[in-house]
Amino acid sequence: MEDDFVTVTDPEGFTLRLTELDGVYASPFPGIKERVKKLKTFKCRDDDILILAFAKSGTHWTWEIAHMLSRNTTEHIVGEKSEQFLEAQDAQDLEAHKSPRILNTHLRPERIPDDFIRRKCKIIYIQRNPKDVFVSLYNHCKNLEQYYRYSGNFSGFFELALEGKVESGNWFEYAKLCEKFLKAHPDVPVLRLHYEDMKMNLLEHVKKIAEFCNFSVSAKTMAGIAEACTFSNMRKFKVDTVNPDRQSRWKDGRYNMYRKGVSGDWKNWFTVAQNERFEAESRKQLEGSDVCVKWAN
Ligand code: A3P
Repeated sequence: MEDDFVTVTDPEGFTLRLTELDGVYASPFPGIKERVKKLKTFKCRDDDILILAFAKSGTHWTWEIAHMLSRNTTEHIVGEKSEQFLEAQDAQDLEAHKSPRILNTHLRPERIPDDFIRRKCKIIYIQRNPKDVFVSLYNHCKNLEQYYRYSGNFSGFFELALEGKVESGNWFEYAKLCEKFLKAHPDVPVLRLHYEDMKMNLLEHVKKIAEFCNFSVSAKTMAGIAEACTFSNMRKFKVDTVNPDRQSRWKDGRYNMYRKGVSGDWKNWFTVAQNERFEAESRKQLEGSDVCVKWAN
C-alpha cells in the first residue's frame, strides 16, 4: 500500500504525502490507486447523486444537507460523507448504502464513472473561493497527520498549492476541466453551488438542493435542516459523535474537519505578495475560460 504514495517537497524542505494518479495528485488513502482504476466500470443507480468538488470546498456540508433532505429528517447523520466517497470506499461497501446514495468525489471529472453519465445521474458541483480552499487544505493536511505527514508552514504550502502539488491538483485546471466536462455532457443534470452563497443564505440553498434532487420535504423540515446545518450546529454534532477510530487520525486526537467555516479567512493567511501572485496566476490561467470565481477581495 505504501506504493500508492508519493511525497512532494515544498520550497522550505517540508514533505507532503499524496497519491499520484496519471500525473495528477490525489488524497493519500490506502488502496486509492486500485479503487480508482475500477471506477470507470463502477455500477451506478438511477437515483445516485454525485457531489463534485475540489477538496475543502464544502463537500461535508452539502452532503449532510442532501442526506438529511433525502431522509426527510432534521436529525444529523451519525457518520460522514467519506462513507460514500468514491476514492475512499470499495464498490461493495458503496453497494451496501440505501438509495438514494449521495456519492462524492474530489477526483477530476474525467474519473466520473461512465455508468453515471449513461444514466444521467444528478451532479451537485460546489465551488469555493480558491484562496480559502488553499487555507482550509493547508490546515487539513497539517491536522490529518496520519495521512499527509506534513509539518510545513503556510508559506511553503502556498507554493505547492499554486503549482498543483496538492490533492485534486491545480485548482484552476480542475475548475476548467469541470466546465469542459459539464459542457460535453449537457444531458447530465447539474446544480452549481458556491460556498460563499450558501454562507449568505443557507435556507435558500437547502430549497435549491431539495428541488434539484426532487426530494419532497416540507417547508418546516427544510427550515429545520438549514438550522441544523449552520456551521456551529453541525460542528457540535459531528465532534460529539465522531467515532474514536476517525478521531485518532487527527493531530493530538482533535477531530478538526469542521475548522472555522467562514468565507474570507484567506485574509488572515495570505501576504500581500502572495495575494498578488495568486491574482496574476488566476488571470493567466482563467483568461478566456467559463470559470466563474466568486471571492471577496
Ligand atoms: P474551513 O477549513 O475553512 O473551516 P470539505 O467538506 O469539502 O472538506 O470542506 C471543508 C470546509 O467546509 C472546512 O472549511 C469546513 O469547516 C467547512 N464546513 C463544513 N461544514 C460547514 C458548515 N456547516 N458551514 C460552513 N462551513 C462548513
